[in-house]
Amino acid sequence: MTEIAVAFDVESLERAIELDRALGEGREYAKVGLELFTAAGPDAVRALRARGRRVFLDLKLHDIPNTVERAAAAAARLGAELLTVHAAGGKEMIRAAARGARSAGTSVRVVAVTLLTSLDEESLPPGFERPFQLHQTLADLLLMTESAGAHGIVCAAPDLPGIRERHPAPFFAVTPGIRPSGSPVQDQRRVATVAEAVRLGSSLLVLGRSVTAARDPRAALEAARAECRFR
Ligand code: C5P
Repeated sequence: MTEIAVAFDVESLERAIELDRALGEGREYAKVGLELFTAAGPDAVRALRARGRRVFLDLKLHDIPNTVERAAAAAARLGAELLTVHAAGGKEMIRAAARGARSAGTSVRVVAVTLLTSLDEESLPPGFERPFQLHQTLADLLLMTESAGAHGIVCAAPDLPGIRERHPAPFFAVTPGIRPSGSPVQDQRRVATVAEAVRLGSSLLVLGRSVTAARDPRAALEAARAECRFR
């Protein structure tokens, strides 16, 4: 079953609570990312959990293994259920994150960001081979990620077909860059609609601005839920 996370990309705890109210009750994860965590810190996680939300802590950790292990343990103690790290941090770092995540005796799952969905061949930084072998790079990152003990990956939905062949569920595939049909792509590059991402085997759809910037976020979320159910 595909689930939904709403990206709480807002500037303060107050705005996060307002957004949560606007969305109404639901099973969706609240994704706390760099903006909200930098502004409001662990209080944002605590407040959203107190309001009944499961929290996806999207901190995209990328540091030396010891630091990442300790940060992952802190995330687990906070009660986050999902935590992101960058696959580019390497096998030892991912292994350390998984160890830290387990150390608090809770069930925080570590998912590794493969390639940002905002990157395409033109915008890739130096250091990547040209022409860029996207599928090979993804396959290599995935093998490393899985063998290091991560629970899954974050990837673009259009990359899922190749991935799901070798890494079926329950290996967790989180897909940002989801847009309802016809809505603007903004700074994302490799996007998909809700129905496409579900069909391709996404475990968790990340919906950001298409819900949070909608005139009626609750209606936008409900439309996405319906598209998820009746794909
Ligand atoms: O507004 P939009 O739907 O583009 O938001 C996507 C969310 O997913 C943002 O919070 C962004 O940080 C996050 N994300 C992403 N690409 C990744 C990992 C996370 O866009 N590879």
